[in-house]
Amino acid sequence: MTVDTTTTGAATAIDRDRIKELTQRELQKLAERTPKSKERYERAVKVMPGGVPSSFQENDPWPIYVSHGEGSRVWDVDGNEYADFHNGFGVMCIGHANPKVGAAVKARVDEGTHFAAPTDGSIVVAEELSKRFRLPQWRFTNSGTESTMDAVHLSRGATGRDMILKIEGSYHGHHDAVMVSVYPDLEALGERDDPRSVVYGEGYPRALTELTRAVPFNDADALESVLGKLEGKVAGLIMEPAMMNINIIPPVDGYLERVRELCTEHGVKLIFDEVKTGATIGYGGATQRFGVQPDLVTLAKAVCGGYPGGAIGMTDEIAELISSGRVHQYGTFNGNPLVMAAAQATLTEVLVAGAYERLEATNEKLKAACAELIERYRLPAYTEGMGAKGCVIFAPEPLREYRDYLTKVDGELATLGWLFHMNHGIFMTPGVEEEWTLSIAHSDDDLDRYLNAFETFASEVTGG
Ligand SMILES: Cc1ncc(COP(=O)(O)O)c(C=O)c1O
Repeated sequence: MTVDTTTTGAATAIDRDRIKELTQRELQKLAERTPKSKERYERAVKVMPGGVPSSFQENDPWPIYVSHGEGSRVWDVDGNEYADFHNGFGVMCIGHANPKVGAAVKARVDEGTHFAAPTDGSIVVAEELSKRFRLPQWRFTNSGTESTMDAVHLSRGATGRDMILKIEGSYHGHHDAVMVSVYPDLEALGERDDPRSVVYGEGYPRALTELTRAVPFNDADALESVLGKLEGKVAGLIMEPAMMNINIIPPVDGYLERVRELCTEHGVKLIFDEVKTGATIGYGGATQRFGVQPDLVTLAKAVCGGYPGGAIGMTDEIAELISSGRVHQYGTFNGNPLVMAAAQATLTEVLVAGAYERLEATNEKLKAACAELIERYRLPAYTEGMGAKGCVIFAPEPLREYRDYLTKVDGELATLGWLFHMNHGIFMTPGVEEEWTLSIAHSDDDLDRYLNAFETFASEVTGG
């Protein structure tokens, strides 16, 4: 069966039977290349659900167990070497085993790694983040989930309201307030300005999840209408300024500015979840890049250079809720000296302003070369990205929001693309919805390897 997936008719028709055959072939190849991962999986599954520490690490035919990494490369337990475009789900912009971050952490190890009392590192990191994100006050956490959880509490404390708005199809961690409308079915979404609360998985009480509603991205009119309907009830709007969990969807011109105005008009705290964008798409993250100032910023992932930490930035008014003891922001390991040493070295020695120029230039080069291959092979796809983040989106036209992602993205092609990458020495994020993350260690050699894999894929898929 041949189905033309394009709306314009300009792209090559995709032969579905061929995609299925190729997917089977590449899956078999991946299995043959990774017998030791299979062994690890069979052992691990007896002691960890799915054989992995986090469900995001699950994979077909089994997870690829990694032994080590250096710079832009990682090796799996079978000894296969990969150029790493996965980068630990967008964390390792500093490159693996970065010597500067390593030295800072090693020095800290000899001085003691945990006191649950503040150390100098936390002051330096908070000062650095204030400068970058233009928010005066910071607290630390241990993950993105904790950062967004605390930000939600703070927005409620600041407003005395309970409801939270989020964006359809966005992921902000796995606590009760945000496990709503993460990847809902199209039918569950309802009208654009009638925000539903579609729970993602079990274990989240309806009494809590009902307090969170979702609106479409890039639609300020829908937001305006919803804020009118829920007048006086909404504490905060949590959103990624550029969506990064359904491939990458940038904000359209004027959208974030209008969101800011609407939140101010309706007394709603605006939370930018910059867990993915924060330390990857510019010196001051999306906040600086798009020039719109939120009330709260949540960070994690790349900001601590491969160590488990996060941060929340806030206005003085919101910080007062914590200092006065009205909102409780706690954590035994918050501001852990080892994590702070890593974050300090990451921010002040590695991911300095110039590093972002370099990441941007490398990303543009890769995107342009992918776009050229897309055109040459007339694939129904396009490229998107900014800073260290980018992707090929298998859709015939640009996505504006989650409803587009559901209806326009060709999941079979995306999955096959992942298999080709893995079998051609490119370590990539599994799943249809992810993107690549570059590090400062990525060279032309890494890009060439990526492009070779992508061209092999393009040529086999199109029979070209
Ligand atoms: C935008 C966003 N927010 C929050 C989180 C949760 O972060 P963590 O996995 O560190 O809890 C993620 C994780 O992928 C994320 O992408």
